[in-house]
Amino acid sequence: MYRFLYRHLLSRLDAEQMHGAALRALAVTGAVPLGRALLRSLFAPRCDPSLRVQAFGLRFAHPLGLAGGFDKDGVALHGLAALGFSFIEVGTVTPLPQMGNAKPRLFRLPEDRALINRLGFPSSGMARVARNLRRRPAQPLAISLGKNKATPLHAALQDYRAALERLYPYGDLFVINISSPNTPELRNLQRAVYLADLLAGLRQALEAQDVAKPLLLKIAPDLSLDEITTICVLALQHDISGVIATNTTVSRPSGLRSTAARQIGGLSGAPLRSISTEIVRHIRQVTAGKLPVIGVGGVFSGADIWEKLRAGAVLVQAYSGFVYEGPSLVRRAIAELRQIMAAEGVRNLSEIVGTA
Ligand SMILES: Cc1cc2nc3c(=O)[nH]c(=O)nc-3n(C[C@H](O)[C@H](O)[C@H](O)COP(=O)(O)O)c2cc1C
Repeated sequence: MYRFLYRHLLSRLDAEQMHGAALRALAVTGAVPLGRALLRSLFAPRCDPSLRVQAFGLRFAHPLGLAGGFDKDGVALHGLAALGFSFIEVGTVTPLPQMGNAKPRLFRLPEDRALINRLGFPSSGMARVARNLRRRPAQPLAISLGKNKATPLHAALQDYRAALERLYPYGDLFVINISSPNTPELRNLQRAVYLADLLAGLRQALEAQDVAKPLLLKIAPDLSLDEITTICVLALQHDISGVIATNTTVSRPSGLRSTAARQIGGLSGAPLRSISTEIVRHIRQVTAGKLPVIGVGGVFSGADIWEKLRAGAVLVQAYSGFVYEGPSLVRRAIAELRQIMAAEGVRNLSEIVGTA
């Protein structure tokens, strides 16, 4: 139904306007118990103990969460949770409100099952997001932190630290986003010269808190494997809890068919799938599993979840898959995952992490 609607109607509408309408619909439906019950009955997956994941000191009903960027301000969390995502990443949130880049800045590549975006962290800012998060769903909530565009790189730590401290009471895990391609120079923070100081400063900020919560780094897919190894070494040195691999890519894999492939920005969706899976595998190998990975990039199905888990991810996330598959993504992908587990004789997901 969603695929039919998407092909014949939704794909003709402006991508960012459609996204706003979907968020508003989820916010309204998710605001009342009856609406949530309806969403759950229509879309939430059937879960059982074999799908449960324990990671970062938290419990997840199954491995599929919603990736950062879909609900940047945390306005539709109850609706999104009722669709069955086992965790949701809010943000990226910047300390001060900012508009992001000029429109148009979000493009569909339907022939490639992909998106290109150059949003540039539009954010209501941390104070507003903190208010939005006062009533949050029960599922584990990750909060993605960014820096304002106007903040120079050498002052980035202050931005991340301010957002971490302001939002700390509201999240279960925190993500340092240093990998968006749409904020000038941001990805330079992944270089060892900047990263060591950033991580040391954030570790200090965490230690000043009463309750310990996990802090993860989200990395780009456009780094060399050596650069990723260096990041992992630094992350382990600074006691970072895990890595999210990966953000969108500025590369354009050969064979893209859609006209929008020429747009500037980060590419996500099917063409990113194997690139990010290989990075998950690399991190798992070079850290001997000591740095848990959340795998993201091109997850549309149970087979895609299976692939990322086998490569070494403990959890996975989707964004583009949700746009293309619609609200039944989680139910369908988790049903497919259960079928694969049954066919392979796997009784618990922890048996397969990193076995490929
Ligand atoms: C429109 C759009 C906005 C995004 N915004 C963010 C963001 O604010 N923070 C972030 O960490 N990742 C952001 N991402 C990246 C996704 O979280 C994810 O890493 C990437 O899209 C790859 O996953 P996918 O192939 O399932 O889409 C965004 C992606 C898209 C398509």
